Amino acid sequence: MQKTQEFIQKNSERFLEELFELLRIPSVSADPAHKGDVQKAAESVKSHLQNAGAENVEVCQTKGHPIVYGEKIIDPSLPTVLVYGHYDVQPADPIELWDSPAFEPVVKKTDVHPEGAIFARGACDDKGQMFMHIKALEAMVKSDELPCNAKFMIEGEEEVGSENLEIFIKENKEKLEADIILVSDTGIISNEHPSITTGLRGLSYVEVEVTGPNRDLHSGLYGGCVANPINVLSDMIAQLQDDKNRITIPGFYDDVEILSQEERDEMARAPYSEEEYKKEIDIKEVQGEEGYSTRERGSIRPTLDVNGMWGGYTGEGAKTVLPSKAYAKISMRLVPHQDPEKITQLFKSYFESIAPDSVRVEVKPHHGAQPAVTPIDSAGYKAASNAMEKSFGKKPIPLRSGGSIPIVALFEEVLGLKTVLMGFGLNSDAIHSPNENYGLFNYYKGIETIPYFYSEFAELNK
Ligand code: BES
Ligand code: MN
Ligand code: MN
Repeated sequence: MQKTQEFIQKNSERFLEELFELLRIPSVSADPAHKGDVQKAAESVKSHLQNAGAENVEVCQTKGHPIVYGEKIIDPSLPTVLVYGHYDVQPADPIELWDSPAFEPVVKKTDVHPEGAIFARGACDDKGQMFMHIKALEAMVKSDELPCNAKFMIEGEEEVGSENLEIFIKENKEKLEADIILVSDTGIISNEHPSITTGLRGLSYVEVEVTGPNRDLHSGLYGGCVANPINVLSDMIAQLQDDKNRITIPGFYDDVEILSQEERDEMARAPYSEEEYKKEIDIKEVQGEEGYSTRERGSIRPTLDVNGMWGGYTGEGAKTVLPSKAYAKISMRLVPHQDPEKITQLFKSYFESIAPDSVRVEVKPHHGAQPAVTPIDSAGYKAASNAMEKSFGKKPIPLRSGGSIPIVALFEEVLGLKTVLMGFGLNSDAIHSPNENYGLFNYYKGIETIPYFYSEFAELNK
């Protein structure tokens, strides 16, 4: 991979400019107003794949946003790496909290990234990380060092649940035949401590609506006499967790995977500083389920969080009103063996059962995701571990993550393929937040590491 690495060095500036072009397209999948931009981003990914040397590149339309497919088959008898990533991004809101515009990428130095970081929505999640794979492919192809076959499947609906990708993989099993799926859409512990993600949590997401009186009422004339839906909703939400921060929904923990003490001890050996954790997000104290560490609460235990809550008057000044309705969006992160649909049903029944007669409640389920765990004894994991050891000079440690990537469980179920989650982001990258950023170190380290993955994987499959 000598020539490949030299090619990367020589072209590093161009590799950054090209990523900037992609970051300038506001491909927000959740917002219908950006439908054209999402299509534009797909076309851009297509041409980057073609320029990198991929063949049969196509923008595959779906009922929602398109999927970009491309491949470089050098010899059908060699193993095939299927790269998955997403070019869609989360909305940039609240835009007033960005220090520079979300879709005008710039490099700025930070405490975490003294060498500079790319600030833009999608810089890390996942345009920056996905693009590393296109550049690594280009470097290998142009240096004539691609050691096995490569396929690319880059979607535009990851941030909204990957529903059409599920249909796509079911309809294209043959086209997607491969030996391993490689994804960079997760993170590492720190730039000094590389790690490989070995688990993702599942997700159950609901929206609740609480209705009181048939219209907004004067809070002086009716307050104290009629149930206030916002007060009631707050009280119901408070009841979803007990004083040990355990979720009170009956049956919620029934299927939860219990880890052995050995596995928990192993996890606890990963480098981690609670002081730094608190400092970075400016909190005095952490909070979570009794009996578990912060690391465990954020990976191997299920959780419940209100993501947003609204109702009544939230404009300028004071308006005295007793609102007719209150709403909340609630997410539950799930761990292995918990089923999103079952959990959504349990939530619905319980939530309806705790509603007082003074209100009516409606629970609307949104998209969910299955949890996933990935083995550490597979050829894919070993290839990733060896590749990172080469580029970081340190053996990465396996670690489960708290986030979700809906399609990963289905890769195994539908395509029978294992996934390697070789991401390069940091928790401080502020993904889904204002000022999302991605270290230049991480961007280039990813491009450097990926070719090693290919050669290690080809070698291990000989
Ligand atoms: N890339 C993230 C997931 C992630 C980030 C996993 C960091 C591990 C470490 C992905 O784009 C994401 O945001 N997923 C959503 C799920 C989706 C259904 C909206 C999530 O986890 O909230
Ligand atoms: Mn992502
Ligand atoms: Mn995301």
